[in-house]
Amino acid sequence: LGDMSIIKGDLRESEGLLACLEEHQPDEIYNLAGPSSPAASWDEVAMVGDIAGLGVGRLLDAVRNVTPKARFYQASSSELFGNPVEVPQRETTPFQPRNPYGISKLYAHWLTVRYRERYGIHALSGILFNHESPRRGDIFVTRKITRRAAEIKLGLAAELRLGNLDARRDWGYAGDYVLAMWLMLQHQPADDFVIGTGVTHSVREFCELAFARLDLDYRDYVVQDEAYFRPVEPAQLVADSSKAQRVLGWQAEVSFSELVYRMVDVDLKLLQNV
Ligand code: GDD
Repeated sequence: LGDMSIIKGDLRESEGLLACLEEHQPDEIYNLAGPSSPAASWDEVAMVGDIAGLGVGRLLDAVRNVTPKARFYQASSSELFGNPVEVPQRETTPFQPRNPYGISKLYAHWLTVRYRERYGIHALSGILFNHESPRRGDIFVTRKITRRAAEIKLGLAAELRLGNLDARRDWGYAGDYVLAMWLMLQHQPADDFVIGTGVTHSVREFCELAFARLDLDYRDYVVQDEAYFRPVEPAQLVADSSKAQRVLGWQAEVSFSELVYRMVDVDLKLLQNV
């Protein structure tokens, strides 16, 4: 970990947050904490609201009282747009979240903006579209695909059951998006930004590339299963990141195919080294 030290905390407890800031006096705070599955948030509404919503209020309060000069980044999400009223989505697109995850994130988003206005702290939100990497958890579709494809290649599994293969997302590489978070915090004055690639792909296209990387045809292994379908799929979630490009000089560097290949290659290696 080098110079890094890990201190455990809980967004449900103000005392711990206050003590942590008092002891460490951070210059920059990135709040990426909280449950991250929009689909699963229906099963744990109060917990999601408490951490992803109210928890951000506790943290902002601690920041303004203990480290008012610190810069604060809030992880907002394209889920704020829900079923979007315009395509592509930018900073001014109206929010209408469709699940408890998005609703909680919306509370945190507005609180961040209002703390900036009311208390003059350097707080901002990054409205990030889906960002993936080999570290992604396999409850999310990209890693579910790449891990299972690698297992199939090695004879460890026979099929991959997925939900809607025609669902589309604006998928980027997480490393590019972490750079965007950092660039946002360096910029004066504090402001909010939409971050994404501006291009969508279907789950089917992701499968096609992932299996092809392993010299397999996804049609031989992928089964569409109603159990994984979502009741409401957003029509067209796709980012307009032109403000980030103009103001921060940011744009996504890793292409869709490169992202898929990186994830597949790591999963294959991980399984071969077991
Ligand atoms: N998880 C999953 N499993 N999704 C599937 C499956 C499946 O078997 N089959 C199809 N999908 C489709 C979903 O219906 C959805 O349209 C798409 O794949 C992406 O789903 P997820 O990977 O679960 O991600 P998400 O878009 O719901 O949420 C992620 O992105 C948000 C926006 O950046 C998470 O990272 C959130 O935390 C984040 O806010």
